[in-house]
Amino acid sequence: MKYVVGNYKMYLGVRESVALARGVLRGIRGSEVMPEIVLCPSFPALTEVRKIIARSHVTLGAQNVAAVAPGAMTGEVAAAQLADNGCEYVIVGHSERRQWLNESDDLVREKLVQAFAAGLTPILCVGESAQAREDGTSEAMVARQLAALRDVTLPRKRKLVIAYEPIWAIGKGTPATPADVIAMHRFIRSEARRYIDVAEEDIVVLYGGSVDGSNAYEYLREREVNGVLLGGASVKLHECLAVIGAAQEVMEAQTL
Ligand code: PGA
Repeated sequence: MKYVVGNYKMYLGVRESVALARGVLRGIRGSEVMPEIVLCPSFPALTEVRKIIARSHVTLGAQNVAAVAPGAMTGEVAAAQLADNGCEYVIVGHSERRQWLNESDDLVREKLVQAFAAGLTPILCVGESAQAREDGTSEAMVARQLAALRDVTLPRKRKLVIAYEPIWAIGKGTPATPADVIAMHRFIRSEARRYIDVAEEDIVVLYGGSVDGSNAYEYLREREVNGVLLGGASVKLHECLAVIGAAQEVMEAQTL
């Protein structure tokens, strides 16, 4: 199985998100092999996108979740509320939130706990900064972020989904090379298993950072890359469909 996750970030309104989701459904109609496609619109669009993708192979994800249970927390959205809105996934610890909202690894850990407790599958984002890359401390930085998994229990039958997104590669048109991605994915797998009791086949590691229709295949064809997390490309229908097509091509080849 390969994953294609679309993070619409704060790019789109409700109508545009719905149109895009419709376009994705149209694009995959009749396909025999189906990757796990997760669309993550902004909060206001969740309900409408949910209606569009109901009874399809496409699933819904949110871009953020509160670190606490439902209650007095103005402006936040609890994991249980996301689940109630049809979300199956939630992005946690995206670098934009770490950078601009100072989300710490402790906070990220609380969000993981809340998400799992509500029946959601969190997509934990990790990745080194340009500085760490220059200093040769990328693995150390990613290892620190993965420590958010400490004492987190993976519910039965749930996957552990981690997205490797080097900060310097996000939105810049300068993706990491497949070789670098493979090396970091191996590191992430072994590091994650230090903290969490999970079978090898239940760890899903995605790559994100300037992935589009022109390069997705280069990552997806690698055994170590279970899927891709798209930002900019996810809000351009033709790019998104090209990436889904690449995932299908790889999956088809694997079943031969
Ligand atoms: P990008 O963003 O695809 O626009 O580089 C990826 C992400 O931030 O998830």
